[in-house]
Amino acid sequence: MASGMTVAVVGATGAAGQATLRILEERKFPVRELRVFASERSVGKTVPFRGEPVRVQKIEPGAFKGVQIAFCSAGSVQSKAYAPMLVRAGAVVIDKSSAFRMDPNCTTIVTVMPLKPLHDAGRLRRVIAVSYQAVSGAGVNGIAELREQTLAWARGETIQPRHFPHPIAFNLIPAIDRFGPDGYTAEEMKLVNETRKILELPGLLISPTTVRVPVFTCHSIAVTAETERKITPAQARELFERFSGLKVWDDPTQERYPMPVEVEGQDDCFVGRIREDLSSPTGLNFWVVGDQLRKGAATNAVQIAELLLG
Ligand code: A2P
Repeated sequence: MASGMTVAVVGATGAAGQATLRILEERKFPVRELRVFASERSVGKTVPFRGEPVRVQKIEPGAFKGVQIAFCSAGSVQSKAYAPMLVRAGAVVIDKSSAFRMDPNCTTIVTVMPLKPLHDAGRLRRVIAVSYQAVSGAGVNGIAELREQTLAWARGETIQPRHFPHPIAFNLIPAIDRFGPDGYTAEEMKLVNETRKILELPGLLISPTTVRVPVFTCHSIAVTAETERKITPAQARELFERFSGLKVWDDPTQERYPMPVEVEGQDDCFVGRIREDLSSPTGLNFWVVGDQLRKGAATNAVQIAELLLG
């Protein structure tokens, strides 16, 4: 499938859509023609691709004609409406939303990267995960809100929350999405359910806490993982180093550990602070950071498209 494909990006003005465009450029995905779509509000606006402005088109009958691969990141309601239209037009749809699977969770993707090699080597028994999730996980509105509130704070003005339920600048919000009757949030249950699904461990014990933090990009997760068979920190370091897509940054003598500002823009996930759990003989603690717009969403989508190209 050589000289190039007709590619559509639906939700191209959004955070994940823009990341998808950057990654298509960077990975030199063979795009012959690019069509970009967003809501009616954005029709006529442009988004940059390979240095050229590309005009946002209206989604109307016939708009998807000829599209071969479509990346959708405009929300699940939109995906449910547009995916069938795209499929009818002959496109393969790579959908980032929750429309056709369990709820998406970029935190899960970052969390399972180190859990998978640990499980393969020592069988996971129990996981405690506390996430520090960036505002970009909430889309462009989340990014704008942190920026606006930070500027307002610097000017001495009152901070008015709009998108998040509380101020996010200089704050931590220990609740993402709505609460269930058991006191866990929907985001926490996504972390539980999707981790079990991806690792094919329906009975895995997972204790989640998800927190929104004033970081623009990159989700970080503090993980305690208990295995059937003891895995030492040295063994874990080796397992992580050998696992594709995972890198180890772990040198306390050099203050070396992954942080959002350094991981931003990277396709791999980074793990550090690897140490024994003081409260369990087969427990291991570590800290993992991933750029959720890239590995969590757009890079994964483009990697799937590359597999399709063969
Ligand atoms: P728009 O910018 O016109 O609102 P994010 O997740 O970062 O908030 O981005 C959501 C993306 O989905 C944006 O590109 C947004 O376009 C797009 N979008 C929202 N509603 C629709 C819709 N009804 N049809 C197509 N795209 C939509």
